[in-house]
Amino acid sequence: MKVAIITGGSRGIGKSIALNTAKRGVGVILTYNNNREEGLAVANEIKKNGGKAVALQWDSSKVASFGDFTAQVKESLKDEFGKETFDFLVNNAGISGQRGSILETTEEGFDELVNVNLKGPYFLTQKLVPLMADGGHIINISSGLARFAFPNVAVYGALKSALEGFTRYFAKEFADRKIRANSVAPGAVDTEFGGGKDSNVKKHISEMTALGKMAEAEDIGLFVASLLTDDSRFLNAQRIELSGGFFI
Ligand SMILES: NC(=O)c1ccc[n+]([C@@H]2O[C@H](COP(=O)([O-])OP(=O)(O)OC[C@H]3O[C@@H](n4cnc5c(N)ncnc54)[C@H](OP(=O)(O)O)[C@@H]3O)[C@@H](O)[C@H]2O)c1
Repeated sequence: MKVAIITGGSRGIGKSIALNTAKRGVGVILTYNNNREEGLAVANEIKKNGGKAVALQWDSSKVASFGDFTAQVKESLKDEFGKETFDFLVNNAGISGQRGSILETTEEGFDELVNVNLKGPYFLTQKLVPLMADGGHIINISSGLARFAFPNVAVYGALKSALEGFTRYFAKEFADRKIRANSVAPGAVDTEFGGGKDSNVKKHISEMTALGKMAEAEDIGLFVASLLTDDSRFLNAQRIELSGGFFI
């Protein structure tokens, strides 16, 4: 059984990625941060449906704890899946963080976003890649805001651009092991991210989207799960926008 590690699998997009990945017969190690119950519930749902899953606590902002987390991953691989390696990593966990103009940005707000949305996935990838099987695949969840300059999200958007840059550098550096890396950039998605979106925002986004609606988590989860198969075997170092045709 192939195994995927999916960060932020307790809610929203990550939960949908975890459930849809398991439906395709892939074992899942998902992480939660604050919402333990939700994380365990996702793993239980997978097991109830005949799949294999483990939920582990992981905080993206605490790089010093990543060694212990990696040890837990090793143990789970051995105990739950009878394996020493895993196959897929989805760096999905993220926060919307401090919003405001560039002039209003505080160092604390900036640092929090850097730590959770960039430093965390960067060093988690560094720590886990020795455990990844050759021929593995990494998906980094970016955002349409890496491409569009919207008001009040300069730090978030710039960091998602950096994550896309990291994706390309990673793909180059690990090509000898045939490990691929791609980023998926959703447009706005109807989750609790950043406190959720009110009905006016949803209406506006729907009107600006060729497919006439704002994405649900499932629209993203289905696609990312489909990338965690051999069908995507020649896709590498790409940014894929998944917005239903936003602002075209
Ligand atoms: N929703 C959108 O409109 C949208 C659009 C484009 C891109 N994205 C990106 O998609 C990804 C998922 O977003 P979402 O909408 O699913 O968000 P969400 O519903 O708010 O879920 C966020 C997930 O990330 C986890 N998380 C939050 N802070 C964390 C931390 N410090 N360490 C580890 N895990 C942490 C949460 O875990 P706990 O709940 O257990 O704490 C939760 O599982 C993010 O990278 C986001 O930037 C979202």
